[in-house]
Order: sequence, then C-alpha cells, then structure tokens
Amino acid sequence: MNQQPVEGFSKLSKQRKIDWLIKEYLSDDHSYEQILQQYWNADPTLQKLHEEFSENTISNFYMPYGIAPNFLIDGKLLALPMAVEESSVVAAASKSAKFWIDKGGFKTTIINTKKLGHTHFIINVEPHKLQHFFNFKLKKRLFEATEDITKNMRNRGGGILNIRLIDKTADLENYFQLKASFDTVDSMGANFINSCLEQFGRTLREEVANEEAFTSEEKDSIQIVMNILSNFTPDCIVRAEVSCRIEDLKDDSGISNEEFAAKFKRAVTIAEIEPFRATTHNKGVMNGVDAVVIATGNDFRATEACAHAYAAKDGKYTSLTHCTIDDGIFRFWIDLPISVGVVGGLTNLHPLVKFSLALLGKPSAQELMSILAVSGLAQNFAALRSLVTTGIQKGHMKMHLLNILNQLGATDEEKNHFVTYFKDKTVTHHEVISQFNSLRNK
Ligand code: MEV
Repeated sequence: MNQQPVEGFSKLSKQRKIDWLIKEYLSDDHSYEQILQQYWNADPTLQKLHEEFSENTISNFYMPYGIAPNFLIDGKLLALPMAVEESSVVAAASKSAKFWIDKGGFKTTIINTKKLGHTHFIINVEPHKLQHFFNFKLKKRLFEATEDITKNMRNRGGGILNIRLIDKTADLENYFQLKASFDTVDSMGANFINSCLEQFGRTLREEVANEEAFTSEEKDSIQIVMNILSNFTPDCIVRAEVSCRIEDLKDDSGISNEEFAAKFKRAVTIAEIEPFRATTHNKGVMNGVDAVVIATGNDFRATEACAHAYAAKDGKYTSLTHCTIDDGIFRFWIDLPISVGVVGGLTNLHPLVKFSLALLGKPSAQELMSILAVSGLAQNFAALRSLVTTGIQKGHMKMHLLNILNQLGATDEEKNHFVTYFKDKTVTHHEVISQFNSLRNK
C-alpha cells in the first residue's frame, strides 16, 4: 500500500469519503460500498440523526438489542434492555433474574451520588498562604463566578456541593488542585461539570492576578494545567444485593445447596485475592453493566474506567462483588461506583435509548444506577454459577452454535436441525463443522 495523507477528509461528502477509502485502501473494489450501504437506515431522517451523533460517518454499526425479563428490583418487575454482541450475556442475565425472582429479588441502596472534578494548576506559593487565600477569598469567588452556569442545575436540586484546595506539592513541585464535588441530579453532568471547572480556571487566574498578598513572581508562576471532571467517582455508589437461606439456594447441576454455596463463595474469595482472576470476574460483571449502559445511551468507557479504578482503590486490584455465608444465609452483593444520566446526551435523541428508558419506566438517574448494579451482579452470579458447576463452555458454546452456523452459511432448516442435534451434546467448533459437512454431503 502506498497511501498519501488526506487533507480535508471531514469536508468531503459521505459518497466522496467512501470513494476515497475504496480507492486508497480497498483496491477499488466497489462491492465494499454495498456492505456500508446495507446498514444505512431506509429513513433518511433517521440516517442523518445517526450520522450526526459522530463525525466522518459512513455507515451504522449495529449491535444486537436484547431483553432480559423477570428482574425483580426493589419490588418492581423489570425487563432490562441490553445492547451487547457477546452471545450468552442476555441469556445469563435472564437466568439469574429467574433464579432470584422467588427469593425476594434484588435489593438496592444508593450510598451516595457525588461527582468530582478538578482544576489542576501550578503555582509557586507557599501552601499555607495559598490556603488562606482560598479560604478567605477564592472559594466564595468560585461559587459566585459560576452562578450563571449552575442556575438551572440548582433549580433542579443540584449544583456545586463543595470546593477544596488540595496540596499535591509532595507529588509534583508546585502542583495544587481545586477539587470540586457536584450533584448533577438526573444528568451524567459531564458538560455541566467541565463548564464549571473551566470557569474555576479563569477565576483562579484572575483572582491570583488581583491578590495583594502575592508577590509579582508568585502571580506570574500560575499555570492552569487543565480543568476536567474525574471519571473516578468513588462517592457515587450504589449497592445491589441478593440473599436467601442456603436451603433455598438450589442449583440444577445436581450438587447440594451447601456445596454450591461454599463453591460459589470460594470463587468470589479467589477474585478478591487474585488480580488475574479479579480482572476476568469484573469483566463478567461489566458484561451486564455495559449492555444496559449502552442501551440507555450512557458512556460505557466512563463506567468501565470507574469500575476498574474502584476495584484497585486500596492499592491492589480486587473483586467488585462479595459474598458471605452466615447463620445459614447466603448473601452476594456489589458496590458499584457509576455515574449515569437519564437526561441530556443521547437520551433525548436516540430512538432506541428513548425506548429503553420508557421500558424501564422512565427511571431517575439513581434508579438507573440501581438497575445497572443489579445487571452487573446478576451477570456475575450467572458466570460464577456456571464456573463452579458445569463450567462456562457448555452454555457459551450452545449460544455460539448459531454464530458458527451463520459463518458456515447454514439455512434456517439446517440451524434448527443442529440446535436439536446439539441439545444433549458438547458443542465444539470442530464438531459443528464436521456435522455440518456430513449433513451437506448426504
Ligand atoms: C465472559 O465474557 C465473562 C466470564 O469470563 C466472566 C467470568 O469468568 O467470571 C465468563
């Protein structure tokens, strides 16, 4: 390949972008164009809407949108929308939901809802002097200077909760932070928080310049490095839990309830003490969380980053879920830090997001936090249940069977045949291909 850098790609029309890509990267093979076109929405308005969510858009990338019904959450029966491409995630969620429905379902508690952001800055001023300036002048000015930005949020019951000066000079010379906490009510609040922080940066610079107690060298030393929210929200936490008497903890794999409970708990303990296992364990949790995060138009990169930072908050990466067996009671829970919104962002724009939120009964942001934690806990329960009994591959490969058959170009009739054939047999890639070939050869 001998491509040249392109100038002004974003200004080309969609067709010209595609032509360019096909010529430069796809050997002028226009059959690729058809692949892109078959994912365009037939309704041009809807297509335009999707194109405008991002930049340089040439097609849409579909994700399966599935439903996991029978989730009893805080006494409400919900069907969870899940956008996920991995087979068996929705089935696993549904299985867990069904398991817990007659045991009281899932219970959740919002522990707190604070979001955080920082103005990171450098100044060569003695920390006590700076603290004095912050306490007696700057803090008040920061609230005043952001009054216009926070007005609507304050009317909705949120706003800036507190601002603190943090001395980080032990870690980096002359490094300080303005650390602010926010209540963003039903929105995730990224734009709101970042707008406040950028104003903090401007106000800080102005107030330092006007401060009589600072020398001109001190004033000149200020540098606003950046103003940005933190996706780590250890003070925006929801707990979801299930519990039941061991005698009700019946698994259908044939082992006793006591043995199942003990094996399950041990698997959680291993994730608590072993980071290699914890990573996979938490990945399984996030299978459940992210699928609902995406279906409700929220930012799964933010929820991933936050969950993993939280899992490592005590200096060693550990499990997000925990389990106890006390006095014959099995208890399994998650404390999930998660910042999501039900207004703003994609929530009012993407038709399927609107559908998801309507399906969930138009939850508040706090209710959505609960639903997400439940989805993660349920997913983890299903994974551990399989892992400590039958193993994960049995269920996974059953779900993967259709993917393999689709790759082989199986007809509907052939698919039905193989789903029945493999009901009581182990699915392996090799075996499916071999059975498929022998059916076709017959
Ligand atoms: C696969 O996507 C997720 C699991 O590996 C999670 C786990 O091992 O707990 C099954």
